[in-house]
Amino acid sequence: MIDAIKGQLEQLVFCSPILSTNTRAVEYVEMLGRTTPGGLTTIKILSGGSEATETAMKLVRQYFHQTGYPNKKTIISRYLNFHGVTMGALTATGMADRKTPFEPLAGGFRHIAPPYCLRCPYKLKYPECDVLCARILEQVILYEGPDTVAAFIAEPIQLSTGNIVPPPEYWPIIREICDKYAVMIILDEVATGMGRTGKMWGAETFGFVPDVLCMGKGMAAGYMPLSGVAFRDEIAETFISENKELAFADGHTYGGNPVACAAGIAVLQELQERHLLEHCEAIGEYLMERLEDLRELGVVGDIRGKGLMIGIELVQDPVTMEPFPHELGFGLKVGRQCIQKEKMLVRYSPDWVAVAPPFIIEKDEVDDVVERLGRAIIAVLNQVRR
Ligand SMILES: Cc1ncc(COP(=O)(O)O)c(C=O)c1O
Repeated sequence: MIDAIKGQLEQLVFCSPILSTNTRAVEYVEMLGRTTPGGLTTIKILSGGSEATETAMKLVRQYFHQTGYPNKKTIISRYLNFHGVTMGALTATGMADRKTPFEPLAGGFRHIAPPYCLRCPYKLKYPECDVLCARILEQVILYEGPDTVAAFIAEPIQLSTGNIVPPPEYWPIIREICDKYAVMIILDEVATGMGRTGKMWGAETFGFVPDVLCMGKGMAAGYMPLSGVAFRDEIAETFISENKELAFADGHTYGGNPVACAAGIAVLQELQERHLLEHCEAIGEYLMERLEDLRELGVVGDIRGKGLMIGIELVQDPVTMEPFPHELGFGLKVGRQCIQKEKMLVRYSPDWVAVAPPFIIEKDEVDDVVERLGRAIIAVLNQVRR
C-alpha cells in the first residue's frame, strides 16, 4: 500500500476532474468495474461515504428528470439505517438521534420500517410474517404515487444498528417491487462492500443486482479517502451528450484523485493476490461459531452478520428477549470495557456490541477476540449485579 502511494506521489498528486481525468483513475475504475455485480460498470470516484450516497440520490433524480419522468423525485429509505452526515444522506438516514439537531432536513424523503426480526416493528414472526417489512414497500409506493418515487435506498446489512441482517427473501422481494414501479434500488455498500461480508459486494451475498451501488470505507483500506458510486451503463448513457446541460451536475474537486486511486488499485491487488475474500468468508464463519460460546453467559440474544461484520445483541433474558433497561446502558458498558480494559476496538450501543476485524485475522486471533469480549461481558455483569 505504502509503495503504491509513494510511487504515485512521485508522478501526479492532483488532477482537476472538471477539466480532465488521469490514467490512474481510469485504470482503477476499469479494475473495479470487473468486480461489481451485473452491468454496474460506470463508476464515479469520490472521497467519502456520505458523498457517495448523496451523489447516488442526485444521480437518480437527474436521470428521471431528463428521461421524461420529471416527477420521480421521492427517495424511500428505512428507519435505523445510516447513510452519512451530509444533508441528503442524513435525511435518508433513519436514526432520530443523529438527525434532530440538524432539522429541518431535505425534502422528498419517506421511511419504512427495517427488517429487524428480533424486534419486529409489526410484532410478527418470521417466516409466517411473509416478509411484510419488504412487501410494505409496494403499498408505500402506491400511496405516494409510483410516478413520484425515484428510488429506494438501504444498506444490505445495517451496520450502525448492530449489523441487522434481513431474511433471505427480503432483497429479491424488494427487487421485484422496484422493477414493477420503475423505482431504482440504491444499495449503500459503504460498509458492506469490498469483501466485508465475505463476497466482494453485499449484493452478491444476498443474490440480487441493485441499479446504483455506493461504496467507501475499505476501498483504500484506510490509507486514503476514497469512495465511489457504480451504476448501470444505461443510466450513464443519458448523461453523455454534446449538450452540456445533460451532463451529471455533480463535480467534486477530489473526485478520482490519482493518489487515492493508486491506493485503491493496491487494495484490489492485495484482495486478489492474498485471497482475502475467501479468507474473510471462512474466518467469518469461524468467528460466528466461536461467538456461540458466549451464549452461556446468559445475556446474548442474537449473533448476526456475514463475513467479518458481526454484531451481538445483549439482552436481559435470552428466552423472552427482554432488553436491558435503557438507562443501565449495558452495551455501552461492555463496549467501554472492551476498549479501555481489553484494548480491543468495538462498535457499541446500549443494546449491542459489534466487531469488524481486519481481513488478515487468523484463528488464534479470533479466539482472542472472543475471549476479550467474554471477559468484558463478565466484568460488566459483575458490576451491575453487585
Ligand atoms: C452504510 C454507511 N453509509 C454511509 C456512511 C458515511 O460514510 P463516511 O463516514 O465516509 O461519510 C457510513 C459511515 O459509517 C456507513 O456506514
